[in-house]
Amino acid sequence: MADFERAFASAVGAQSAVGVASGTAALQLALLAVGVSPGDEVITTAHTFIATAEPISQCGAKPVFVDIDPSTYNIDPNLVEDAISPRTKAIMPVHLYGQPADMSALREIATRHGLWLIEDAAQAHAAEYEGKRCGSIGDLACFSFYPGKNLGAYGDAGAVSGNDETLLARVRKLRDHGRTTKYEHDELGFGERIDALQAAILGAKLPHLESWTEARRAHAGVYDALLADTDVITPFQSPNVRHVYHLYVIRSRARDALLVQLKSKGIGGGIHYPIPLHRQPAYLKQGYGDLSLPVTEQIANEVISLPMYPELTRDQLEYVVEAVYEAS
Ligand SMILES: Cc1ncc(COP(=O)(O)O)c(C=O)c1O
Repeated sequence: MADFERAFASAVGAQSAVGVASGTAALQLALLAVGVSPGDEVITTAHTFIATAEPISQCGAKPVFVDIDPSTYNIDPNLVEDAISPRTKAIMPVHLYGQPADMSALREIATRHGLWLIEDAAQAHAAEYEGKRCGSIGDLACFSFYPGKNLGAYGDAGAVSGNDETLLARVRKLRDHGRTTKYEHDELGFGERIDALQAAILGAKLPHLESWTEARRAHAGVYDALLADTDVITPFQSPNVRHVYHLYVIRSRARDALLVQLKSKGIGGGIHYPIPLHRQPAYLKQGYGDLSLPVTEQIANEVISLPMYPELTRDQLEYVVEAVYEAS
């Protein structure tokens, strides 16, 4: 387990990593480690999987959703400052689909307002922002190793990485029942350790992460080129990032028809994500009904994910592109 933690920390350019039971656990323990508590607010995005916001709520804090940038689909830093209140404790960007959020702008805001910056890096293994790996930029960063992720275990697993040993020691203690010695516990923690078998599997897979990442990036380049003449919008890649294409997400005004067309040809398209978090029944019950996030709401109606994994062949990529042409 410690071997994998060391190797993973090095792979993401961080001083240390702490293996935990899932990406969700990573987020919850990171939030607790920086002291997020009931009544606090954490600024984040609504265009993501619910596991980004759920741990904020489970800490008794309130997710404050701000709108996204229409080209990267990541949290729009220009809107963050207006969302800050005296109760704001942290900003939690998601490196969505494998593209890093605008970390320089977010760091600047976080520093100016004395806020923690926690990366949801569940989709961003080996992604880079201005030459720095996601996982080493925020105060803490949270990874998922769910089987479908760019680095996936054979079951649930996750990690928290960073450069602040005090915060990481706190995550280490919280994941293991607040333990100080074998049967001494100085606070209540959780049973959220990484499974040793999953850590061993991840340790065997980690040396392949670079070649798998390059394969994903090459496939994205093929899709970009072959889809250039269609009226779908291909992913924008910021010039200062290494996008790792956990998902290859295009946009189409005829998204639902396109999805049907892909399915009819045996192609597994997906929608990430069809319902913004502020429109989820679970959050509507908590009073988010009046919140309007126009870009998030529009994007949720237009996005469609094409197949993306390292083993895709050129023939398969062309087959998918042909189906997109036929539908448009
Ligand atoms: C953006 C994001 N955050 C958090 C998570 C939660 O990770 P896990 O499923 O390992 O709990 C996921 C993945 O499912 C995710 O995609």
